[in-house]
Amino acid sequence: MPSGTGLVLSGERSERGYIFAQTANQVSRNSTRATVRSSIASMLRNQEKSGAIVASPDFAEYRYCWLRDGSFVAYALDQVGEHHASARYHEWSNRAIGGISALIDRAIDWHRKGKALHPDHMPPARFALDGSNVADDWPNFQIDGYGTWLWALGQHLLSTGQDGVPTEWRDSVERVARYLDAFALSPCFDVWEESGSALHTSTLACVYGGLTAAARLLDDEDLLTRAETVQSRVRDNAVRLGRYVKSSESDDVDASVLWLSTPFRVVEPGDNYFVQTVQAIEARLSLDGGLRRYPTDTYFGGGAWPVLTASLGWHYRAVGDLDAAHSCLEWVADHFDDDGRLGEQFGGERRDPEHYREWVNRWGPPARDLTWSHAMYVVLCAALADVGGSHTGSALTRPTSNQEETAK
Ligand code: BGC
Repeated sequence: MPSGTGLVLSGERSERGYIFAQTANQVSRNSTRATVRSSIASMLRNQEKSGAIVASPDFAEYRYCWLRDGSFVAYALDQVGEHHASARYHEWSNRAIGGISALIDRAIDWHRKGKALHPDHMPPARFALDGSNVADDWPNFQIDGYGTWLWALGQHLLSTGQDGVPTEWRDSVERVARYLDAFALSPCFDVWEESGSALHTSTLACVYGGLTAAARLLDDEDLLTRAETVQSRVRDNAVRLGRYVKSSESDDVDASVLWLSTPFRVVEPGDNYFVQTVQAIEARLSLDGGLRRYPTDTYFGGGAWPVLTASLGWHYRAVGDLDAAHSCLEWVADHFDDDGRLGEQFGGERRDPEHYREWVNRWGPPARDLTWSHAMYVVLCAALADVGGSHTGSALTRPTSNQEETAK
């Protein structure tokens, strides 16, 4: 990571929560464009009337709502006081999950009876924006998004001071918790929608986050016990070469393994193996100051992702290494374009031109505006905003009337 220039956000809480506006002279050149304000506006703009959150408005393959992306976005919205938008996403998820209740129930039932399940029989990773299930050959069996949804819902209820689960969401919470309980230790596709025959460490982290949230929301000890089983599985089976590895089938590093600690707390940030993991991730995955997914990634040339660079910053914030956290923040801030867009990944065209071109030929240029990228930028800014003190680099302001409008 490059060394930081000392930007730390601070300020006061407005009635609507945190809204940040960076000042030009305290951040690096391009980041003057990268205001948290515009990221919040992007997240709100990419929310449909239905409450669904579009993964990317400018990339045809991403004109869907993923539970993974959407749930991190809802969490980011809660961090900046946009609870109404977050609630609308959770209401949409509740309806989408309600729409596939028979699919989930059958999967659990067949699993219990030991019947063979084809990935096509499994609940989807992504939905159409109206909440319907998309019938296509996407690698749908990815349980992490369901865990992340429960975790984000738990965070939403906490941050809005609600005890327990509102009655209208209870069925979905119980059903998803049962689904995770059943499939927690089943191989499935990972957070990158790849390698469907392995148990993935970051998927286990998301499942743990979901099960612990559900245990609390439903006051269910059995779910907590199941979460502890997942935690033991990570501790006992995911440590190889002195660090947490990518999956049951790969000793590689993977930047999504960062979520083991922040936010899902399967392990503490100071856990020795986790410290080694972070070092290995940085050593093997840094690209021009940002973080790539995993060493052999070829998707659009395997560039560096704002989502992951911000995740690393979030970890550094958790351990109090503010300079490192700010370096990550600045890298992300430097990758907004003049129109306030923040893409999925950067640098793949130089790192691996052949694979970059291969993907461009297949799907067109990579997503130039990824809602999840905005979300993780906002999450990192919000995490740094409570630091305060001498590093003042931004002010908290109320949104403009324009943004109030977008929020509706
Ligand atoms: C990523 C997923 C993500 C999806 C939509 C895929 O390329 O691998 O993690 O959910 O894009 O953003």
